[in-house]
Amino acid sequence: MNIFITGGAGYIGSATAEALLKAGHHVTVYDSLVTGHRPAVPEGAKFIHAELSDSLALAIALKEDKYDAVMHFAAFLNVGESVQRPLAYWRNNVANTLNLLESMEAHGVRRFVFSSTCAVYGQPDELPIVEDLPKAPISPYGCTKLSVEWMLQNCAVAWGLGSIALRYFNAAGAAEDGSLGEDHDPEIHLIPLVLRVALGQRESIPVFGTDYPTPDGSCIRDYIHVDDLAEAHLRAVEAVQPGEFEAFNVGTGRGYSVLEIIAAAREVTQHPIPIDPAPRRPSHAIVESGTRGLAGRVRLIRYNQKRSSPNNL
Ligand SMILES: NC(=O)c1ccc[n+]([C@@H]2O[C@H](COP(=O)([O-])OP(=O)(O)OC[C@H]3O[C@@H](n4cnc5c(N)ncnc54)[C@H](O)[C@@H]3O)[C@@H](O)[C@H]2O)c1
Repeated sequence: MNIFITGGAGYIGSATAEALLKAGHHVTVYDSLVTGHRPAVPEGAKFIHAELSDSLALAIALKEDKYDAVMHFAAFLNVGESVQRPLAYWRNNVANTLNLLESMEAHGVRRFVFSSTCAVYGQPDELPIVEDLPKAPISPYGCTKLSVEWMLQNCAVAWGLGSIALRYFNAAGAAEDGSLGEDHDPEIHLIPLVLRVALGQRESIPVFGTDYPTPDGSCIRDYIHVDDLAEAHLRAVEAVQPGEFEAFNVGTGRGYSVLEIIAAAREVTQHPIPIDPAPRRPSHAIVESGTRGLAGRVRLIRYNQKRSSPNNL
């Protein structure tokens, strides 16, 4: 397939671009580099340095080549920042996706894979978090992602768009050969921050909340290895059905606590990694784990506990 990837210079997009190339697909990365990195775009992918808000650049890009599918990773994803700057999130995550979908409609591209998030569920009353639980996002970030899912459902009816939304839990890990990995600025994710302590770039790691109703009192989350995510995208793009919208959780089904992650990092790096207990962060989900896996027509993920274990940092 000839696949157009927005955000392919970012963490998950670049890992997916690499996996698609290895599987024999043609890949074009469209990225403004607002948070991404040019060297992360895999060799063999065509690169277009442009903004999604630039409708003309988008139209030219989609006209120049005939694409079979679009994978849409480009977005802002810092939950805390989305509370401070909601309109920047609505503009980039929703208005710019609207531009992309308009251009796809105009140029006859009918397959779409969307990077959604477990943040669409908010703080669910029950576990495991399965796809048909109520959607009640508690952050502007989660609202923007859920809004795009609604847009995709409307487009399925109106012009036959086929789309799959993958609702990721927490992406983690790097390419096994070390060529690609996570590089956000500022970094907000636990594992790279923990490793910065081991590298001597931070004194300690704050543990926000030590009184949660979990076995060790720290927050539990479900971490999915970035290569497993890439594989889920590969399967999703092949499974998209014209005129249908589907959504799947993508996680391992096993949560790890913050203290378990730190213990694993200590074991791997042989560094003491001091912790700094801190109060709970406001309005963050207490437990974000427990996806039952993928309900529905296709199973997109091969459960790979080895690759997705926190020992594989
Ligand atoms: N990282 C996670 O744990 C996680 C969890 C759930 C969902 N997601 C979703 O996955 C997607 C990718 O996340 P990531 O961690 O790889 O983020 P990232 O910041 O590493 O990558 C995003 C990429 O999109 C590009 N981009 C952003 N806005 C753009 C625009 N307007 N025009 C062109 N390019 C633009 C950036 O330059 C960057 O290369 C996001 O949509 C995010 O919401 C991520």
